[in-house]
Amino acid sequence: MPKLFSGIQPTGDLHLGNYFGAITNWVDLQEEHDTVYSIVDLHAITSEYDPETLRESAVDLATDLIASGIDPEESILFIQSEVREHVELQWIFNTVTSYGDLTRMTQFKDKSEDRDFVSAGLFDYPVLQAADILLYKASRVPVGEDQIQHVELTRRIARKFNSRFGEFFPEPEPIVGKAARIMSTADPERKMSKSAHDKHAIGLMEDEDSIWEKIKSAVTDPGKAQGDEMSPGVANLFTLLELTAPESTIEDFREDHREGNLMYIDLKEAVYENLMSEIRPVQKKKKELMKNRSHVEDLLEEGKRKAKEIASGNMEEVRRMVGVGPKS
Ligand code: AMP
Ligand code: TRP
Repeated sequence: MPKLFSGIQPTGDLHLGNYFGAITNWVDLQEEHDTVYSIVDLHAITSEYDPETLRESAVDLATDLIASGIDPEESILFIQSEVREHVELQWIFNTVTSYGDLTRMTQFKDKSEDRDFVSAGLFDYPVLQAADILLYKASRVPVGEDQIQHVELTRRIARKFNSRFGEFFPEPEPIVGKAARIMSTADPERKMSKSAHDKHAIGLMEDEDSIWEKIKSAVTDPGKAQGDEMSPGVANLFTLLELTAPESTIEDFREDHREGNLMYIDLKEAVYENLMSEIRPVQKKKKELMKNRSHVEDLLEEGKRKAKEIASGNMEEVRRMVGVGPKS
C-alpha cells in the first residue's frame, strides 16, 4: 500500500474547516494507504504558545482525532517531538534546501507580516515539514490548499538529496480533499480559522445550542441579491449541506434556489440538522474517550513506538549516506 503522512498542529480546538477539509479525508484514506498521522507540536512552538498546556493540547487533539475516526490500529498516530529523528533529518535537509526557495513560501510571508519577532524557526518551518513526510518515505500527503507549496518544496528537497547522496526518498504528491475551503459563517469572505475570533469558527466539539446560534445567524445576502448568482454566505451553507445531507435533500434546496423560492431559515435548519447527525456521534465518542485519558496516552505511546521503528531505520541509512554519526 502507498505510504501516506500528514500532520496537524495542536493549537486551538478543531473546527468544521479542519474536520471537513482535513480529518474526514484522513479517515477515508486509512483504508488504502499505510497512514502515519502526527500531532506536530514542534511546528506549533514556532508561534506564540503556552508551554504549560502544549502537551495537554496535543493529547486533546489526539482524542479528537480518534473520536473522528482515526483508528490507532490502522494508522500510526503520534506526537512529533517524541520521535527526535524529525529534527535530525531537518538539519540534514537544511543543507540541501535552497535559501531562495524558502524566501518564496507564501505562508511564511503571511505569518511573519504583523509580528514583532519573527523566529528563524518560523522561516525554517517548511523544512521540518519535509523531514516529517520523508522520514517515513511517504509518497502521498493529504493537505489543504495552503500547504501545497510546502509539499512542492518537499519534492525539491527529496530531489536534491537524491542527486547529492543517491536515490533514497520518494517525491511526494499532495492530495487535496473535496472541501478545500470552508468559510466563516460570520464573514463568508474569510476562511474559517482557529486563530480568528471565536465567531469565525464553529468548533467540532462545540455544544449544539451554540452551533445553532452560529448557523442561524450565518450571513447570507449582504446587501442585495445578485441575480442568479449565489452569495458567498449561501454558497458556504450549500457546501456544508453537500458534505452532510442525502443527495435528495441537496437537490430540493438547489431547486428552490434556482426558482427563487429558497427560504434561508429552512436551508439553515437543514444544514444544522444534517451537520449534527454527522458530528453528534463524534462528540459522543470524545466524551467516552475523555473518561479514560490514560488510554489515549497509551495509544500515543504505542504510536510513538511504531513511528520510531520506521524513523530510526531510515535515519540510520541517511546518516550512512551523508557520512555522519552515530551509527545507530
Ligand atoms: P490549521 O488549522 O490551519 O492548522 O489547518 C489544519 C488542517 O485543516 C490543514 O490541512 C488545513 O488545510 C485544514 N483547514 C484549516 N482551515 C480550513 C478551512 N477553513 N477549510 C478547509 N480546510 C481547512
Ligand atoms: N504545516 C501543516 C499545517 O499547518 C502541518 C504539518 C506539519 C504537516 N508537518 C506536516 C502537514 C507534514 C502535512 C505533512 O497544516
